[in-house]
Amino acid sequence: MPTPGNRFQSEAIARIRQTLGEVIAERREGSANHDDLVTAMLAPGDHGGPALADTVAVDHATTFIAAPTATVASTLGWVFHLLAQHPGIVDSLRTEVDTVLAGEPAGFEHLLDLKLARRIITETLRLYPSLWLGTRVVTTDTRLGGHLLTAGTVVSYGPCLVGRSGLYDNPDSFDPDRWDDSPKRAASPRPHPLRRGRPPMPRQPVRPHGEGPRPRHDCITLAA
Ligand code: HEM
Repeated sequence: MPTPGNRFQSEAIARIRQTLGEVIAERREGSANHDDLVTAMLAPGDHGGPALADTVAVDHATTFIAAPTATVASTLGWVFHLLAQHPGIVDSLRTEVDTVLAGEPAGFEHLLDLKLARRIITETLRLYPSLWLGTRVVTTDTRLGGHLLTAGTVVSYGPCLVGRSGLYDNPDSFDPDRWDDSPKRAASPRPHPLRRGRPPMPRQPVRPHGEGPRPRHDCITLAA
């Protein structure tokens, strides 16, 4: 529908695609060696295949601009919102950051040691996954919760419904330590009534980055 909002969106998408198209055209013509994603996309394929066509390169570049911006911005927004309501957790986070960074700027080498920070982000994504609706195509006839889903059916699912379901104790409360995998806290999510008599769920059923066979069905950050 040509509503003002939809028109604004279409124009914005057209502008982004045009700008990226110009960058890609410039790169194809230029000889300078930029060590970046656009260069990688325009190089011939790994197995001697042809380089990506311009429109496909623009598609990928657009995804790479859209995918990391709204997701990370919304996640950080919710992190700060939740931390503002939990000053005790902020104090613990400060202690962790001061200890691990010891006054240095944060780098990749610190990631594994920022354990509480990771738990805070995981717990935030459980409560407020940035992609609140996902879709998958059923590849083989499947029975799910008493319903037969035939191959080819498109299924929509809400990661936030899973995150806030009875799989978790007090699912609405913000409790980063539920992701503490030290022996004192490590408890599997409660078995859901729908799973009675079936194998236990993995410990982390929250899948805010999507999941599925690469190279199509999850966030590219998981592949890295
Ligand atoms: C809180 C952070 C993020 C969350 C929650 C998130 C979540 C997701 C989800 C749910 C998808 C769709 C997967 C599906 O098809 O089910 C996706 C796709 C994608 N994400 Fe992320 N993402 C995040 C950050 C990022 C970042 C930082 C990057 C890049 C640097 C990125 C790049 C991508 C790309 C390229 C895709 C498309 C993958 C494909 O179609 O093959 N995302 N992300």
